Amino acid sequence: MFKKLLGLALASTLTVGMLAGCGASTDTSSASASASADASVEASADVAAPAGDAAGKKVGVAMPTKDLQRWNQDGANMQAQLEAAGYEVDLQYASNDVNTQISQIENMINSKCDVLVIASIDGESLGSVMQMAKDASIPVIAYDRLIMSSDAVSYYATFDNYMVGTKQGEYIKAQLDLDNAAGPFNMEITTGDPGDNNARYFYQGAVDVLQPYIDNGKIVVQSGQTDFATVATASWSTETAQSRAANILSSYYTDKDLDAWLCSNDSTALGITNALADNYTGKYPIITGQDCDIANTKNMIAGKQSMSIFKDTRTLAAQVVKMVGQILTGSTVDVNDTTTYDNGAYVVPSFLCEPVFADASNYKEILIDSGYYTEDQLQ
Ligand code: BGC
Repeated sequence: MFKKLLGLALASTLTVGMLAGCGASTDTSSASASASADASVEASADVAAPAGDAAGKKVGVAMPTKDLQRWNQDGANMQAQLEAAGYEVDLQYASNDVNTQISQIENMINSKCDVLVIASIDGESLGSVMQMAKDASIPVIAYDRLIMSSDAVSYYATFDNYMVGTKQGEYIKAQLDLDNAAGPFNMEITTGDPGDNNARYFYQGAVDVLQPYIDNGKIVVQSGQTDFATVATASWSTETAQSRAANILSSYYTDKDLDAWLCSNDSTALGITNALADNYTGKYPIITGQDCDIANTKNMIAGKQSMSIFKDTRTLAAQVVKMVGQILTGSTVDVNDTTTYDNGAYVVPSFLCEPVFADASNYKEILIDSGYYTEDQLQ
């Protein structure tokens, strides 16, 4: 299944349009990059750096884990698009182990990569290796997840993480008709890894929509577990989310219906649906997710998960490859957000792509018609 998926991602990678829109960008000077680029040719506005500029340039791509589907797609898309643009690529996965990721990045620096693209495991733990990159004048693009507490991060490219949470919260609000229905409704919350800066944005985006209804009693969280630390899930693990959900279901929902489970992403949503199958017999709840992983898209089709958020990894890769080209040619680097992502050292110039709502009614259009999956993969 994975091979098929990756083959498809590779095949479609060069032809895809900007489906999950990376909206209009604001150009800012690349002067804020931590290392200056020495090339003289302008990068194209729409594609990666022309092959001539890429000649002899090496890009290190550090990904967190192969365990979750999306990072396999991210890595494959990055590699294919960078190689198509003429770069040499060093792509590494770190099995969600921080020390492995640090030593992989050290190797990339020692082997004189020209740019580093890093999807961190724990955003706070790369400080020294970031300093090493800065000392070696190697620009760093934080990929999808912000690298914290370091001024060596030149740029950040991601999807609008707060908007992901907003879309999840708005979905629950609309489905339960919170402004009109009498309620009260029972809801539980699961979010992601506390070391992943994104998790807080997903959580906050959704909670900002739903908190007023918790405050006025229309939503009741029977477990009482609402604060970020308590609802977080280490490593975004399906099993961890499942065992917490199993406990909650058997403690609070043996004689009560659960109306919604706000879940930040698909790997954890899978844990919730598994726990429901094993520990719950009441009315089936609304379940949110993110990523449109294959297992979860199948669950949406089967009515076991209500929605997900599609973040087209082809689009993010295309944007990052473009930024690599712009950095290496000393051109202005595309960013469209210069206020949101303060990593504790400074506000990192960012490019935010737009996340797209997905459910059983539109998955064909956004996932199959766009070539992201084949019909067969979702059988
Ligand atoms: C990503 C999500 C993903 C999660 C777990 C987050 O940083 O933005 O798309 O579901 O990590 O891999």
